[in-house]
Amino acid sequence: MNSPHDVPHPETRTVHTPVVEVTGSRPLGTPIYQGHIFAFEDSDAMAEAFGGPDGAFFYSRLGNPTVRALEEAVADLEGGVAGLAAASGMGAINSVLLALLRSGDHVVAQSCLYGATIAMLGDLAERWGVEVTYVSGADPEEVRAALRPNTRLLYLETIANPTTQVVDLPALFAVAKDAGVLSVVDNTFASPILYRPIADGADVVVHSATKYLGGHSDVLGGVAVFATEELHRKVWHYAVELGASADPFAAWLTLRGMQTLALRMRRHCENALDLATRLTDHPAVASVRYPGLPDHPDHELASRLMPDGHGGVLSFDLAGGREAGKVFAGAVRLASLSASLGTVKTYVMHPASTSHRQLTDEQLRAAGIGAGTIRVTVGIEHPDDLWADLDQALRKAG
Ligand SMILES: Cc1ncc(COP(=O)(O)O)c(C=O)c1O
Repeated sequence: MNSPHDVPHPETRTVHTPVVEVTGSRPLGTPIYQGHIFAFEDSDAMAEAFGGPDGAFFYSRLGNPTVRALEEAVADLEGGVAGLAAASGMGAINSVLLALLRSGDHVVAQSCLYGATIAMLGDLAERWGVEVTYVSGADPEEVRAALRPNTRLLYLETIANPTTQVVDLPALFAVAKDAGVLSVVDNTFASPILYRPIADGADVVVHSATKYLGGHSDVLGGVAVFATEELHRKVWHYAVELGASADPFAAWLTLRGMQTLALRMRRHCENALDLATRLTDHPAVASVRYPGLPDHPDHELASRLMPDGHGGVLSFDLAGGREAGKVFAGAVRLASLSASLGTVKTYVMHPASTSHRQLTDEQLRAAGIGAGTIRVTVGIEHPDDLWADLDQALRKAG
């Protein structure tokens, strides 16, 4: 495998990702190795390939050159020793959780985690005897107090959805490390362009590659990146049994999208800050949450952790509450009413009438969501066009 050029900047490394050498020369675009099986000269060589993630390619569930190129590219950007690609973000998350936890273990997790991750932790608790304690993550002492002798994992997210809370990740990793607990971070919302948790002490980083890494709403994928070979081997062994492996074509689409990741992230951040600032002054808007705004409670911390930008997701509260939220979500024309994020197009969503519709206003408040909260996952369109669309929808909702 040809390595990326030894250059310091992610803008360059996303373009010059590793490719497999074939005949002494190398393709400049990563080929799609769609075939799932490989042949050997003799049985000894074949037996060696069974053993671990670094052996010869054998069967694509265990490893595939196109998938390996994606794993190496994301591991390189995240500053980890190795990556493991999966069929979806949840495939990567479940591979990590199931490989590292056993019955009787305890997990400390942030209460704002992605819904399917919370559901999975609930399932592990109910069916597999894994104990879970939820914390806000806002105070390292809260996390320290939640640790128990059987705590195995601390599970966090870089930027919370849709509250955009950012916690002091390096301090939380240090608390975990002190206690011999592994830190796992979902870095989907920041991408390795904005934040690289392993440099600050995380043990495992997970991504829904479906979002910023792929970037174009045309692929489902996930990647886990490991700080040590030991963790990689452990999760790889479990993942190949689980069968959550990435498909080569999905890996190729993700790699293709990643070539513009740095450019896209810059634009996502610029557009989000621009819209957040304009929303702040709008009479129909009661409050705006974006870590790039100076009055965001975590602005200073987020700026220290992510000096190059504060991400592409913001949320705001409509003064008109639940009904206004529903009207707004149905009134956007350029933005789409959609649940995903991290792609070139802008999406809006009204959690109280969709993803969180079963919750009362009080339960919503406990989750940090208002009845009139709108989440905007900002794309890379021209900011004036985006604002014109949000403004016309706000007038209908206001
Ligand atoms: C933060 C986060 N993590 C994980 C996932 C799951 O990823 P996937 O849908 O690729 O399985 C999502 C999906 O929205 C997400 O937002």
